[in-house]
Amino acid sequence: MPSPSAQLLPASPSTPLSPWQDVALAAVITLACATLAAHFELSEAIFRNTRRWEHFQLDEWPVAAFVLALCFVWISWRRSQQAFLQLEARRAAERRLAAALVENRELAQQHLHVQEAERKHLARELHDELGQHLSAIRLELSFVRMRWGTDNPELREKVQSVQETIDGVIGLVRDLVARLRPVVLDMGIASALEWLICEFRMSSEVTCDLQIDEQVADLDPWQTSTVFRLVQESLTNIGRHARARNVQVSLQRQSDAYVLTVSDDGLGFDPTKIGIKSLGLQGMRERAEMLGGQLDLRTRPGDGTSIIVTFPISAATA
Ligand SMILES: Nc1ncnc2c1ncn2[C@@H]1O[C@H](COP(=O)(O)OP(=O)(O)OP(=O)(O)O)[C@@H](O)[C@H]1O
Ligand SMILES: [Mg+2]
Repeated sequence: MPSPSAQLLPASPSTPLSPWQDVALAAVITLACATLAAHFELSEAIFRNTRRWEHFQLDEWPVAAFVLALCFVWISWRRSQQAFLQLEARRAAERRLAAALVENRELAQQHLHVQEAERKHLARELHDELGQHLSAIRLELSFVRMRWGTDNPELREKVQSVQETIDGVIGLVRDLVARLRPVVLDMGIASALEWLICEFRMSSEVTCDLQIDEQVADLDPWQTSTVFRLVQESLTNIGRHARARNVQVSLQRQSDAYVLTVSDDGLGFDPTKIGIKSLGLQGMRERAEMLGGQLDLRTRPGDGTSIIVTFPISAATA
């Protein structure tokens, strides 16, 4: 695979020129000229023929031509030195660019790891702390209603209304926890995707099919959450942009790789016109790379969209 820098910069000439070949060629041409000149007695002929124009000093011109040739040699040498320095600078820039790209990718991957850990932590905190406290408040209110509400209808009604509000908040927290890190993620990729697609069907009017190859062994936790996030972002995009009627999600196992496909029959789009503020697809590419694989985006206006992520089967699940 070509290096990232090689993709960004034009390729260098593949066959380096040997300076000794050039020197040998110049020596052969010089010797041949000297032999021919000696054979035809060139200097004498020039001298004879230019005597008439002695006032132009034509017989002195060979010396000037010789000096001019030396000047050309000197100029060529300087140009080659400059070219060499430029080449070195370009190679150094290529090395720096490649290193920056690697660093950039590592940072992006680190960021996604931290984000996933943070989501997990936040989900647990919300569930264990906020969820428990809300339930405790609800219980206390039930006690208040039973203890003092029987004789005081106004208080009973008020307490009931607060309880309903709390029920709403508990529901919101549950949704938030599920969105941050669904518990089904711990039950394997098949259950997690089924849950995700079920949620998607409920929130949209799109028909969505899921096909998971029986040969798909349980992915490791990192692969599971990454595949889950890839499908989640794809479905979010479909819901927001595609106006699709049918969506197909599949996870297949090939000989040495998994293939995740999310296809829709919606509007499609021109991938060259994605705004710089759009981060979803970029994040998906980074996630695919973190799985050691790659993301292939197939779409064009009016022709639906397919996102295909191919990633190797890790040693743990092979
Ligand atoms: N399935 C799809 N069907 C049609 N257009 C899509 C689809 N997926 C992406 N797009 C187009 O590609 C663009 C880039 O998508 P991307 O997910 O990167 O960004 P976004 O959804 O606009 O914003 P965000 O950064 O919040 O995800 C979208 O704005 C949309 O125009
Ligand atoms: Mg998006």
